Amino acid sequence: MSGARITGWGIALPDKVVTNEDLSARLDTSDAWITERTGIKERRIGGTTSGLAVEAGRAALARAGVRPEDVDAVILATTTPEGIVPGTSAAVQEGLGIGGGAFDLNAACSGFVYGLVTAHGLIATGARRILLVGSETLSKITDWDDRTLAVLVGDGAGAVVLEATDGPSELLGWHLGADGSLRHLLYCEHGGYLAMNGKEIFRHAVRAVIESSLVALQRAGLTPDDVDLFVPHQANARIIVAAAERLGIAPERYVVTIDRYGNTSSASIPLALADALETGRLREGSTVLLSGFGGGMTWASAVLRW
Ligand code: ACO
Repeated sequence: MSGARITGWGIALPDKVVTNEDLSARLDTSDAWITERTGIKERRIGGTTSGLAVEAGRAALARAGVRPEDVDAVILATTTPEGIVPGTSAAVQEGLGIGGGAFDLNAACSGFVYGLVTAHGLIATGARRILLVGSETLSKITDWDDRTLAVLVGDGAGAVVLEATDGPSELLGWHLGADGSLRHLLYCEHGGYLAMNGKEIFRHAVRAVIESSLVALQRAGLTPDDVDLFVPHQANARIIVAAAERLGIAPERYVVTIDRYGNTSSASIPLALADALETGRLREGSTVLLSGFGGGMTWASAVLRW
């Protein structure tokens, strides 16, 4: 059995920046409300799920020095596929020239962490290189007259390349959770718009992130004190702060990018990871805790030794 490590990463963001002021000009909301209740200042809007995924995937492959034809599978974590069949990963496979398989994975905003655990499993059973992409165009399933959701969402993509290694696995512990009895809290029917009970999601999200993080850490033989960097799903800055405080993780040990990108669902964790790498906050040897939650409800955590 081989271990696996992330050897490359890349992101893609639409050029169009939509600020809180832009939204306040057409909706009954304000920069003060959005900033105080969510931590969001602006978001990027535009592009397509496959187009953003190809751009982020290409950057990740280049950074890893991996040729697309040598990739055993591309996993596309997305809540915003371009159709029902085929999977949007088919367009990503073609766009990049991936040599192996392609499949979509929908675990809502937990999708990237679900994909990370899946990628490690594929490598443990013989794959050498996996491309994992979280890509979303939530703007396309948002009713722009619904101020509750319009202020939250953003578009973007983040990708990582995982490669088999003879050394120890980077993944020290993980946890996946779901409670389908809560699926009415956040949903989007075919051809419809996102609908959400924000208050209930908030309450479950804080609990889920804490419990799931603690299980993943325990499986790794670690505690929150051992975490050098906490990279949570970016849905609301207040959720991040509440979970981090209760885990005893101080602000200098967690990443917040929601101010710039809004909630980009399964793209939010790889975007935050890339931010931490590019700003030098994530270094060789760091212990990293990733934790996400989303529609389903689903939740997922992973502990990595970088
Ligand atoms: N601008 C101004 N006022 C608003 C807005 C807005 N955009 N949205 C709601 N309000 C009003 C409400 O109508 C309410 O007014 P009232 O008191 O007169 O009834 C007041 O603000 C308070 O509303 P609440 O819903 O109680 O506000 P809350 O503090 O709960 O914040 C929020 C709402 C930001 C949605 C929060 O509940 C949240 O972030 N929940 C979690 C969302 C989440 O994580 N979703 C999962 C992912 S979303 C996705 O996947 C795309």
